[in-house]
Amino acid sequence: MRLIFIGFGTVGQGLAELLLKKKDELFSKYGIDYSVVGIADKLKGSILDPQGIDLAAALKVVQSGGYLYELSSKKFEGEALEMITAVDAEVMFEATYTDIKTGEPATSHIRNALERNMNVVTTNKGPLALYYQELAELAREKKVKFLFEGTVMSGTPVLNLLRETLAGSTVKEVKGILNGTTNYILTRMEEGLSYDDALKKAQELGYAEAVPDADVLGWDALAKVTILAKVIFGAKERPFDFPCEGITGISAADIFEAKSRNKRFKLIGKIWREGSITKASVGPEEVDLSHPLAGIMGATNAITITSYELGDVTVVGPGAGKFETGFSMLVDFINIARE
Ligand code: HSE
Repeated sequence: MRLIFIGFGTVGQGLAELLLKKKDELFSKYGIDYSVVGIADKLKGSILDPQGIDLAAALKVVQSGGYLYELSSKKFEGEALEMITAVDAEVMFEATYTDIKTGEPATSHIRNALERNMNVVTTNKGPLALYYQELAELAREKKVKFLFEGTVMSGTPVLNLLRETLAGSTVKEVKGILNGTTNYILTRMEEGLSYDDALKKAQELGYAEAVPDADVLGWDALAKVTILAKVIFGAKERPFDFPCEGITGISAADIFEAKSRNKRFKLIGKIWREGSITKASVGPEEVDLSHPLAGIMGATNAITITSYELGDVTVVGPGAGKFETGFSMLVDFINIARE
């Protein structure tokens, strides 16, 4: 399998490290062999080499602050989109920054890769929250895979679970904690850290978006809620069609006052049906300390999928992070390669 990375930041590097670590295992267990033929990154430079790029050397150079093109003479001068148009590859990993208002540049990357019959794996929420139906339809038409497990709860299985394991179920409602950064901030504030220090720490740990406003204003959870609404209920709504409030209005005093009443603030995302209408929302809620969601701390996420057949199925796991999100791309890649 020839692979290209579009975006080589935290998530792209997380995936690269996992691919290297598991190279032998991928071959012995699944018969998968791969070669990375292109890496494009707006900040770290771009390289294209049909003969294969030394992925370990690529990681080393960017992790020591260098540019990818220091590696070889295979510097690629164009934009990512030009690389997608020029390269021959079977899989594109799209992990550029999320913009949930425009979905760009990721949507163009994905559309072009699908047009060129490449399988696409992405963790980018913008294209899914805005253009899921169109992109999924294009992938079907081109008979390629378009997988995006990491867009919701990083590597913790949610979308693949809904598609594969819960296939045939009729979902009534989905509810949970879908943003790692805000859950981490609320947890650390309860431990006495200031909002600013907690946010800084979440950024250092690779949880926060490039512009962390997207986390604290609730937009990241809103994007995830919209993706779920589209995938589960076929909703046509765009993210800002749904009500959304973040955590910026919650002070340390509010957190302690709630605790004195046996409550804890959580940023809750919900999707449900009212007749044929899909409803969704994101906002802080005071959850009773005895409620299972109250015990979800740090960057951990949790989701409860309520279906007519099974009642509540709850999944708890990492919601953000370099390897956690990189892992989602590895899973999607294995699924593509196995088919
Ligand atoms: N910024 C996101 C979060 C990353 O904190 O949950 C994972 O989507």
